[in-house]
Order: sequence, then structure tokens, then C-alpha cells
Amino acid sequence: MSGEQIVREEQIDREALLRGLPLFDGLSDDRLAALASVAWVSTVPAGAAIIEEGDEVLDDEEGLFLLVAGTVEVRKGATDTSDGRLLRTLRPGEFFGEMALIDAHPRSASVFATTEVQYLAISRWDFHRRLRSDPDIALRIMATLAERLRSRDEDEDEGA
Ligand code: CMP
Repeated sequence: MSGEQIVREEQIDREALLRGLPLFDGLSDDRLAALASVAWVSTVPAGAAIIEEGDEVLDDEEGLFLLVAGTVEVRKGATDTSDGRLLRTLRPGEFFGEMALIDAHPRSASVFATTEVQYLAISRWDFHRRLRSDPDIALRIMATLAERLRSRDEDEDEGA
């Protein structure tokens, strides 16, 4: 997916956006349509806090975020984009917000838009339902978690 262009929310084909995300590669049309029907699409300006560290996640609010356009920074101990410790910059096609949905703890870090950002979001409830019916998606989420853990370990080895 190009992930470069931001269009008005009412013009957006959520199914097409979901189809462009590596997380949902190979998902059938029916399943993509079902997921699209429960996905929010939002656009936020540069500097917006999309996730705030320490927040609890309710079952029916935005839970998992799928980045469609723009970039975000994951920061620990931060109140804005110039504050705290930068853990990772995420780009279109990547997702965030999975950790609190999996372990039911508060948000582990804050996520800030560093440009105008467009994302799709699904609730914890729908995320869990998806994971139960699609083991391939669960495996991809686990692979991403493992990759994030390895990269944290490398940062620590380097004294970041
Ligand atoms: P969650 O804890 O729900 O909310 C903050 C999100 O930031 C978290 O889920 C992950 O998606 C992301 N995140 C936290 N730590 C890291 C990390 N070390 N590398 C990449 N992403 C992270």
C-alpha cells in the first residue's frame, strides 16, 4: 500500500485499507468485510496523543490501531513528542496498541502522531474475536511482539 495520501473519512473504503495491511494478508473477502464493518477510521493532526501511557482500555473503545498514513512515535514517560524516551517510530502498514489488549494491563507507552495521521481502529472485543477465529493473525501479532522485544533487548545492550 502507498499509505501516502490522506482522504476524507466518508470517502474511505475501509475494506480496501484493511486489505493493504500485512497483518490481514490472505484474509477472505467475507472476513475483511466483517472487520471493515467494525473498524473506525480517524485522522489526527501532528502532535496528537493517540494513546496515553497508563490508560485503561475499555472493551468497546479504540483498542488496536492500524496505521494507514503518516508516522507515529512510541514514547515512554512522555507528555509530548519532545519528551520521554523514544522506543520506536512506526510507519504505514504497522499496528500498535496490541499489548494492553493482550495482557489487559494499562497502556505500556504513549503513541504520538509526528505528522498528520490516518488510522483504522478496532475494539478489544472485536480484536479478541478476530484472534479466536484467525490463528494466522494471532501468529503475526506474536511475531511482531517478539520482534519488538528483540529490538528492545538490543537497545538495552547498546545502553539506550
Ligand atoms: P499498548 O501497551 O497497548 O499501548 C502502547 C503501544 O506502544 C503498545 O501497546 C505497543 O503497540 C507499542 N509499543 C510499546 N513498546 C514498544 C516497543 N518497545 N516497540 C514498539 N512498539 C511498542
